[in-house]
Amino acid sequence: MIEQGTTALIRRAAFSHNLQFAKQQAPNTKIMAIIKANGYGHGLIRAATALSAADAFGVARLKEAEVLRAKAITQPIVLLEGVQDGQQLKQAQALNCELVLYTEEQIRLLQQVPLDTSLPVWIKIETGMHRLGILPTELSAIAATLRALDWVAPEIKLMSHYSSADDSDHSVTQQQLDTFLSFTDAIAGEKSIANSAAVLRHQASHLDWIRPGIMLYGVSPFMDKTGIELGLEPVMDLVSTVIAVNVVKPGERVGYSGTWTAARESQIAVISAGYGDGYPRHVAEGTPVMIHGRRYPLVGRVSMDMICVDVTDAQDSIHIGDPVLLWGRDLPVEEIAQAANTIAYELICRVAARVLHQEIDD
Ligand SMILES: Cc1ncc(COP(=O)(O)O)c(C=O)c1O
Repeated sequence: MIEQGTTALIRRAAFSHNLQFAKQQAPNTKIMAIIKANGYGHGLIRAATALSAADAFGVARLKEAEVLRAKAITQPIVLLEGVQDGQQLKQAQALNCELVLYTEEQIRLLQQVPLDTSLPVWIKIETGMHRLGILPTELSAIAATLRALDWVAPEIKLMSHYSSADDSDHSVTQQQLDTFLSFTDAIAGEKSIANSAAVLRHQASHLDWIRPGIMLYGVSPFMDKTGIELGLEPVMDLVSTVIAVNVVKPGERVGYSGTWTAARESQIAVISAGYGDGYPRHVAEGTPVMIHGRRYPLVGRVSMDMICVDVTDAQDSIHIGDPVLLWGRDLPVEEIAQAANTIAYELICRVAARVLHQEIDD
């Protein structure tokens, strides 16, 4: 039986390759593999088990840590958004998480809620992104406050985050790194600032811990190169099948609002994939879809469960049940993201809950 609808095929071996690749870029650092947002759409547990050689995992939310611990994932888990109240703090401790601290409120919370074990913490420092982070000028005082608390592990770690590491002009990145290093210089503790873009193109950023996300999924953080071109292996192939092949006469229109009109007699393959699966509704007309290793242009609007593709030029005829590649190793997700005027991060993270995930070996 052919699986109906859209499936995300996941190559476990590609995860290992990409982790190894990250290690080669930064051989002397530890790796915090970022697996938030359901492992960037690849499955949280699948990502954690396939990346088990990482030194730690980074997630955004307590819920993600809870799911990992429930599946007996034992590596250190870093809560990148920390906690916001006492109950969350106790839960984080029960789950044996490391906390990222970035507000005065979080520091006060830690002072007010004594814990019965010693909690590992990271202080996140504002260096130019102006999103999360304490002011660098407050770092010494905050570090001293935390060191005075019995329930905070004495090895406080330090981190910051880049706003523009994917930019080919590294001046902003260098400035952030300089700020980070100048303020953390006098503070003992391991340091981390590099996301995937900095792992790949800004060696000075590697420090004690790298924090790769997107590259572990075989996807590029850059606009000018795909993951494959960087030496990564895409982990996900998003696939579906042809469910109808229609003949459309010249002048006939296809799809909602009839935005595409056949200029000649055309063969239109209808594919069981749509925005209800996470395929972007706003892709440009002509966006490639691959059938039997060949690219065909998407025509008309993307529907919830279907897209239409012009296969008139197919040399071999195309049949109901034929497999279709929407993005993956042979059709870069970065290219589909550009056609949808977004970034590949968004496409992979938005693969919908109804899409089955299936592991493959090749
Ligand atoms: C704090 C932090 N570190 C690292 C990463 C990984 O970034 P990337 O996926 O670009 O490698 C993220 C992702 O957004 C993040 O929020």
